[in-house]
Amino acid sequence: MNKRLAGKIALVTGGSRGIGAAISRRLAAEGARVAFTYVRSAEKAEALAAEINASGGESIAIAADSADPQQVTNAVNRTVTTFGGLDILVNNAGIYIGKAFEDHSLEDYEQIMAVNVRAVYVAAQAAVKHISTGGRIITIGSNMADGSFGPQTTLYSMSKSALQGFTRGLARDLGNKKVTVNVIQPGPIDTDMNPANTELADFIRTRLPLSEYGTGEDIGGLVVFLASDEGKFITGAALTIDGGFNA
Ligand SMILES: NC(=O)c1ccc[n+]([C@@H]2O[C@H](COP(=O)([O-])OP(=O)(O)OC[C@H]3O[C@@H](n4cnc5c(N)ncnc54)[C@H](OP(=O)(O)O)[C@@H]3O)[C@@H](O)[C@H]2O)c1
Repeated sequence: MNKRLAGKIALVTGGSRGIGAAISRRLAAEGARVAFTYVRSAEKAEALAAEINASGGESIAIAADSADPQQVTNAVNRTVTTFGGLDILVNNAGIYIGKAFEDHSLEDYEQIMAVNVRAVYVAAQAAVKHISTGGRIITIGSNMADGSFGPQTTLYSMSKSALQGFTRGLARDLGNKKVTVNVIQPGPIDTDMNPANTELADFIRTRLPLSEYGTGEDIGGLVVFLASDEGKFITGAALTIDGGFNA
């Protein structure tokens, strides 16, 4: 069978659970060798790597805290030394801290910006040294970059909006290498960060034309499309995949 990403090497940050795990599975299913990072869930991470390896893929789990720039750079370098290169960087790791605006500490600000923004910048800069011609840098932002649906989203929305500027600038910086740079902006996706079985989820569903949450697989499918040859003319774009939430 023709796998769309055969021979490609990918790094996914935050791949142990949720959207990142689904992305890692999809990339591996399309033939890519996949390294992914995690920070706390060592068991889940090792189980996912074992699952991919058992199904004929190649995968490693790397402990690397995205809040620490050195660990992010090390994860990129470890991917390159393990698999012999890098073609696809997926910046997925992200956090949300739900608090009233006035209760946010400066540490909350630093933590969100370190993981959601600085790590993306650092990973891309480390990756650029190695990424192949025709490579891909794909960042998981949020539809909340364009529309905030309620309170307690200020910091998170701010961090995700920053990824749009990053994406546009870097698309121009890397065009000469034929490296595309895009941000995928999911809406509500059923994960530990945003479980579909809560009262908040019931409210969120009222805002969804499709009346249901998306899945990590929905996002994984778009990542594969962008990473494949079919996505080669898409760069500098923010692609919202939110079940119509922002419509
Ligand atoms: N779920 C949604 O509705 C939704 C919507 C829009 C955008 N997003 C974005 O999609 C991305 C993934 O979200 P998710 O819903 O899958 O979240 P999740 O269920 O909370 O999973 C987060 C993943 O990121 C990893 N991670 C968290 N902090 C990290 C750090 N400091 N260093 C390295 N890895 C870290 C976690 O690793 P451990 O398992 O080790 O903790 C886990 O693998 C995020 O960028 C999020 O902002 C999510």
